[in-house]
Amino acid sequence: MERDTTAPDVPMPDSLTPDVVATLRDLAASLADEAAHLIVDERPRTLGVEATKSSEVDVVTVMDQRSERLLRERIRTERPHDAILGEEGGATEGTSGLTWVVDPIDGTVNYLYGHPFFAVSVAVCVGDTTQEGAWRPVAGAVSAPLLGETFMGALDMGAHLVTRDGRRAELHVSECERLDVALIGTGFGYEARKREAQGEVVARLLPQVRDVRRGGSAALDLCFVAAGRLDGYYESGINAWDQAAGQIIATEAGARTGGAPGSFMGKEMAVAAAPKIYPSLVDCLFPKSR
Ligand code: IPD
Ligand code: CA
Repeated sequence: MERDTTAPDVPMPDSLTPDVVATLRDLAASLADEAAHLIVDERPRTLGVEATKSSEVDVVTVMDQRSERLLRERIRTERPHDAILGEEGGATEGTSGLTWVVDPIDGTVNYLYGHPFFAVSVAVCVGDTTQEGAWRPVAGAVSAPLLGETFMGALDMGAHLVTRDGRRAELHVSECERLDVALIGTGFGYEARKREAQGEVVARLLPQVRDVRRGGSAALDLCFVAAGRLDGYYESGINAWDQAAGQIIATEAGARTGGAPGSFMGKEMAVAAAPKIYPSLVDCLFPKSR
């Protein structure tokens, strides 16, 4: 039988009752919204680059740092026994068995340019979030302030979108059945060598799908799969903070998720798609696995 690559079978702490999971989801949404407002309301008029990471184009702004500081302070106050893993601040240990995985601005390059496709991503996970394939998200939220949208999901409770006007809608993946009419999202890393390889994959995919979109925020790409605005998404090289909240939202909306053949969603490959096109998308990404 084919191995289930939806999520690793990580033991759940006894404290995680459905009520607690729902409370954690709501807290994730309110923290993501608060940080999302901060990065819009307090964006300096001349926003510069504070630091670079994997390459000269992998940037950190002062607002990435402030957003993460705010998230960490709030989590420490509300959930003092939980661990935290953040894109800018790394890992802080906890004792509860739960880890908050936060991306203070996903889509930093878009944010720098004033392009509206960026978001704050906040998830609660079980397992060891520093080890590939050893963790899974149980609740999460992605708040996109310039879209006026907050996506959220929790284990066995579905996925929802709350819009600026306060409306709440259940999310469902598309019913797409054929790759050749599928709209597929993807993303690229910041290192030129990696991009060369990613370019080869997208060149192979392009003639086999309706079209390809590169939004610039992995977290939002996953939410767009959840909302049926994309039929599928894949990317190699993403990190736990890009993935965690979007993964639970996409899965709860009915997406099939996984990684390279036989692996969980992770750094080597992250795939989320309408269940009927998932196998052909993976076949196209990994032609030798057929
Ligand atoms: C990036 C975005 C982008 C994806 C990159 C990520 P950042 O995160 O999610 O869409 O293609 O792989 O690193 O740097 O904006 O937080
Ligand atoms: Ca990110």
